[in-house]
Amino acid sequence: MHKFMIVGGNPLKGTIKVCGSKNSTLPILAACLLVEGQCYIKEVPRLRDVEVMKEVLMHLGAVVECSKDTVKVDAQNIKVTEVSEELMRKMRASNLVLGALIGRFCRAKISYPGGCNIGSRPMNLHIKGLKAMGAQVIEKFGYIIAETPKLKGADIHLDLPSVGATENLMMAAVLARGTTIIRNAAKEPEIIDLQNFLNRVGARIKGAGTTNIKIEGVEKLYPNEHTVIPDRIEAGTHMIAGAITMGNMTISNVIPEHVEPVIAKLKEAGVNIKTGDDWINVNASHRPKPVDIKTMPYPGFPTDMQPQFMSLLTLAEGTSVVTESVFENRYKHVMELRRMGANLKVEGQTSIIKGVKQLTGAQVEVSDLRAGAALVLAALAGEDGSVLENVEHIDRGYERIESKYNALGARIFRVHS
Ligand code: UD1
Repeated sequence: MHKFMIVGGNPLKGTIKVCGSKNSTLPILAACLLVEGQCYIKEVPRLRDVEVMKEVLMHLGAVVECSKDTVKVDAQNIKVTEVSEELMRKMRASNLVLGALIGRFCRAKISYPGGCNIGSRPMNLHIKGLKAMGAQVIEKFGYIIAETPKLKGADIHLDLPSVGATENLMMAAVLARGTTIIRNAAKEPEIIDLQNFLNRVGARIKGAGTTNIKIEGVEKLYPNEHTVIPDRIEAGTHMIAGAITMGNMTISNVIPEHVEPVIAKLKEAGVNIKTGDDWINVNASHRPKPVDIKTMPYPGFPTDMQPQFMSLLTLAEGTSVVTESVFENRYKHVMELRRMGANLKVEGQTSIIKGVKQLTGAQVEVSDLRAGAALVLAALAGEDGSVLENVEHIDRGYERIESKYNALGARIFRVHS
């Protein structure tokens, strides 16, 4: 178990580089299962979730080798098409191998991922899409078992634009017989990155980033390399770090367009933001103004930035309203922020935040990845020392966050207990 001891009160100043996107890396590594031969994936972040995905691929029989930020995956000799409960428990996103396994091997068995700290997170849309493509899907003893003689193209309408369902169905469709159309697809940048990777290895996909994605099935995919896009949620988190500590931070290796909803809300809060081709500068010298936020699928305000932005709003000069519309239970950080002196309450999916002048240090518990990031940010702005328990959740999605922030003037100490 690891803890962070954080001494707050220092403005963060300097340049910070964003790593490759976790949420692009995970489906792209899963998609390597579709390819007979070696794929090289570059700019892979060193994160716990990525380690688990590598473990899943190796368990299935892929050869996985890493050198610096590049991961080589050779899925020539896959022996297993089943992911156990043990691996699924380590990371929900292990479910992303479902589409690739059924697509290439016509069979997949994965343990049902079940709910998690932020909501129930069902897989009904993944299953509905696979059934439309001719798969027989049985849910039994906590497993999802999908089988088919050969998947066939289908016209699939998603009830809601699920990121995971869009990715799994894209992967399932690339080797299917005929054309698949995914309507009401998720439009996140990570979907475009997956399309770009799959097209590099020989798939024929158009439309990612829009509502309708068209996939023409091909016979076979061929080895190639791909560089994942920068992590927009990591970038957004650093932007809040600059704003909440009243610092002056330049965030490099970022695609500003991908964080546009966060930029817009920070500007509304009175934070000075400048952008270049691949950098963003955040400069804050006052308490933020209150703003209202509603999380939405991309290009709306990302649910993965809601906890971090809420930390900032606890210090606003007035009252803000945050509405979480993507996940039903994403307010675990609220109780902990209260322990740090924040004045907020939750009513259903809405949170009302009355800004206070100053947060104080406290001992708090990290419940999930982004809640953990929010607590780091609040502690950086806090008056004195805070202790964050269970920071392993943070390591799932941020590479060496303490070293990165300490290089800019923060005082974060990792304690092994
Ligand atoms: C992905 C991201 C996660 C982000 C989320 C929403 C990865 C690895 N994770 O998660 O960080 O918070 O997108 O931007 O990329 N739903 C259903 N039925 C389904 C599938 C989803 O009802 O079959 C619901 C979910 O319960 C949730 C909503 O759809 O309320 C969005 O979920 P989804 O877009 O699927 O999120 P993930 O792909 O799990």
